[in-house]
Amino acid sequence: MFIICNFECLAVGVMISLIRKVIIANDWARAGPEQGTFNKGKKILATNDVDDIEVIFSADEIAVRLEKLAAEIADRNLADLIVVPILKGSFVFAADLLRALHHIGMTPEVDFLTLSSYRNSKVSSGTVEILRDVELEVSGRNVLIVDDVLDSGRTLAFAKDLIAARGAKSIKTCVLLEKTVERAVNLETDFRAFMCPDTFVVGYGMDVAHRYRELPFVGRVVEN
Ligand code: IMP
Ligand code: MG
Repeated sequence: MFIICNFECLAVGVMISLIRKVIIANDWARAGPEQGTFNKGKKILATNDVDDIEVIFSADEIAVRLEKLAAEIADRNLADLIVVPILKGSFVFAADLLRALHHIGMTPEVDFLTLSSYRNSKVSSGTVEILRDVELEVSGRNVLIVDDVLDSGRTLAFAKDLIAARGAKSIKTCVLLEKTVERAVNLETDFRAFMCPDTFVVGYGMDVAHRYRELPFVGRVVEN
């Protein structure tokens, strides 16, 4: 009797879980990743059984903005440019930005700098470490440093100082998101795709503990 009841409970549990997954999949198909904004506070999709992600900047919005951003960069006539994306968070943004720069006729060289200040946390450790250095010679060159988020400013300031110490001719910075927070260091970015509310964001290359980088939009994790 006890075994039969347990089996029935298990079967009902599995059914509920299956129905939930189908509802989530349908929601994804219906809403798509392109809809919803942070301001409307609309919950768009569930990527797993734990978290929902609110869309802040959709894939379409980002694509439109990046074409304009590339035009802003091209207007500055940065000859012989080296683009230095800061990994890992900026890898999707940098890839799309580089293709937008190509569309507008620019021919930059690219090298990567891997820095770490967040580890697996949502809070900056306050110290920035080099995990992988640039290989290209930046001395005498125009350099555009690309990062995903300008938050405290420590990461970008660190990267700027590093490239400056190597004798770059000029250094410009470009971020996907500039958070509306007080900076720990005095730094203004030259190019920015979007201003962003003071919330921890994921997607479009950005992670929390290595998750959500694959999402095609920028969103906010809603913990259930
Ligand atoms: P900052 O040094 O405090 O300006 O932080 C910038 C770095 O922290 C960026 O390179 C990002 O990779 C990371 N970061 C800051 N805020 C977020 C966030 O909301 N989501 C994901 N990464 C973030
Ligand atoms: Mg980063």
